[in-house]
Amino acid sequence: MKPVEQIKQPILNEMEFFEQKFKTSMISNVPLLNRITHYIVKRKGKQMRPMFVFLVAKMVSNGDFKERTYRGASVIELIHTATLVHDDVVDDSNRRRGFFSLNALWKNKIAVLVGDFLLSKGLLLSIDNDDFDILKHISIAVREMSEGELLQIEKARQLDITEEIYFDIIRKKTATLIAACTAIGAASVDADKNEIEKMRKFGELIGIAFQMKDDLFDYTEAKIGKPTGIDIKEQKMTLPLIYTLNHCSKKERKWLINSVKNHNKDKKRVKEVIGFVKENNGIDYTIKRMKEYQQTALQILNDYPASPYKDSLITMVNYVIEREI
Ligand code: IPE
Ligand code: IPE
Ligand code: MG
Ligand code: MG
Repeated sequence: MKPVEQIKQPILNEMEFFEQKFKTSMISNVPLLNRITHYIVKRKGKQMRPMFVFLVAKMVSNGDFKERTYRGASVIELIHTATLVHDDVVDDSNRRRGFFSLNALWKNKIAVLVGDFLLSKGLLLSIDNDDFDILKHISIAVREMSEGELLQIEKARQLDITEEIYFDIIRKKTATLIAACTAIGAASVDADKNEIEKMRKFGELIGIAFQMKDDLFDYTEAKIGKPTGIDIKEQKMTLPLIYTLNHCSKKERKWLINSVKNHNKDKKRVKEVIGFVKENNGIDYTIKRMKEYQQTALQILNDYPASPYKDSLITMVNYVIEREI
């Protein structure tokens, strides 16, 4: 069995219901919007975030479940989808989930508005059901994601990024939403404050590892349904490059900075930079750091008794760093 199939085993019914609810959560009276959301639903992603919500909810409550848990999962996936739609505009990326991105098909104007629509639908799903605790987790995530993406742009302009800033960026732009998944999973079944915080931390650690894996993909030619090799083109400084910049000669550093600053659209030059990063252990170092986050996340699960949900969460933590897409 593939890891994702294995992970889903204890939550098969929940995932099936979720898909129906997620679909109807996007309905609008505007035909253009319905055409676009239909396109989105057809090309679903890995759905790891709803899986985190369900598995954590079930692990902390020994299988108990609430309607609120479904709403939490739908809100998260709506917000996630909105941020991907916006992110592809920001990154000027034309592919997503193996097909054209919304901006590639309908242009930026429409993609920005569709992203806003999905965001509002997510927030309203919580508000209309008085899920204010869930809404608070979501709102924090939305704020931090925008801050993270803006901090990344600021650093891309200055090219003066340190490891510390890199971790701050990825914690904000990616880990905060996965932290919201695991916190909401616990909150939705009325776990206490300490437990919600413990699960939030668990999600944050996985989220950081998750983005490191995503950044590693960009240094490969793996078929992951979206372009690779575009981070340097967008002057996005991720850990493999940051490490290399800090561990090479002055002359090499100058060449690297000049490449990213002035030759980032030159495909041959970008390939050379990627080759240099690989030769100088930028990838190995990133893998090593990613595994540290994986291990710390796994340790948190030690506090819980054996259950199929816990087993799935362990498989999922490992899948985050071993996945091929
Ligand atoms: C992509 O997330 C955005 C990042 C935070 C790297 P996913 O890889 O979970 O995207 P889908 O939903 O499976 O397409
Ligand atoms: C994560 O960053 C994006 C979000 C948090 C929405 P990336 O820009 O690396 O994500 P991909 O690679 O486009 O999915
Ligand atoms: Mg992107
Ligand atoms: Mg990426």
